Amino acid sequence: MRTEVDLIECITSRKSIRGFKSSSVSNAVLRELFAAASRAPSYANSQPWEVAVVTGAKRDELSHNLYDLASSNVAINPDFETPKEWPSVIDQRTKDHGARRFKALNIERDDADARNALRLSNFRFFDAPCAVFFFMDEALTSWSSTDIGMYAQNVALCAHAMGLGTCLQASLAYYPDVVRKTLGIPESKKLLLGLSLGYPDWDVALNSYTSTRVDLDEYLKIY
Ligand SMILES: Cc1cc2nc3c(=O)[nH]c(=O)nc-3n(C[C@H](O)[C@H](O)[C@H](O)COP(=O)(O)O)c2cc1C
Repeated sequence: MRTEVDLIECITSRKSIRGFKSSSVSNAVLRELFAAASRAPSYANSQPWEVAVVTGAKRDELSHNLYDLASSNVAINPDFETPKEWPSVIDQRTKDHGARRFKALNIERDDADARNALRLSNFRFFDAPCAVFFFMDEALTSWSSTDIGMYAQNVALCAHAMGLGTCLQASLAYYPDVVRKTLGIPESKKLLLGLSLGYPDWDVALNSYTSTRVDLDEYLKIY
């Protein structure tokens, strides 16, 4: 059933979903979701996003191809460079996030198998029926990736407002060549980010975890 939520409530109650019901998402719901997300702002209304929504047999084929690479520990080859070194304060936040999540799931620090299984579940799209990929043309720069970030956030928020769940995933952009090849997308389209989409399964332990945020005064200055 569709639940309408207030925007602030929608923003503050959204969380990444990492376990989904097998129920498919109808094309009508998908079209409604992405039409709403299209209202994202963009530089000079350039709307640089190009989006692939992958379902059914193609979704299974793509998951299989990505899982193969990730489980064989093939070196990642994203279209967009990862930072060479994270600033220490940010690096610490990501480590704290990982530690809290493992603790919530009762995964021990030295349980390499459980940690690896969690990493690999990214490539099964956390069992979501839809995987979404956000591309932009190779001629574009970080100028346009900002727009695509806003679009992707709209997808996450609109989905939440419609009773769907999402997890944005940089990991789905680790092997862009196989994504392009499986979907028949030209090399000139660069993959920024992926997202798993479907109806949340609240019985999955991962979905009971809620992330924290730093205190406002740690990053905000009002002049
Ligand atoms: C650009 C981006 C990339 C992300 N990549 C992944 C990922 O590969 N795997 C994953 O499980 N979560 C991923 N996340 C989800 C973040 O871990 C999550 O947003 C963050 O921990 C805050 O939690 P919340 O979304 O539940 O509020 C990503 C989020 C963003 C915005």
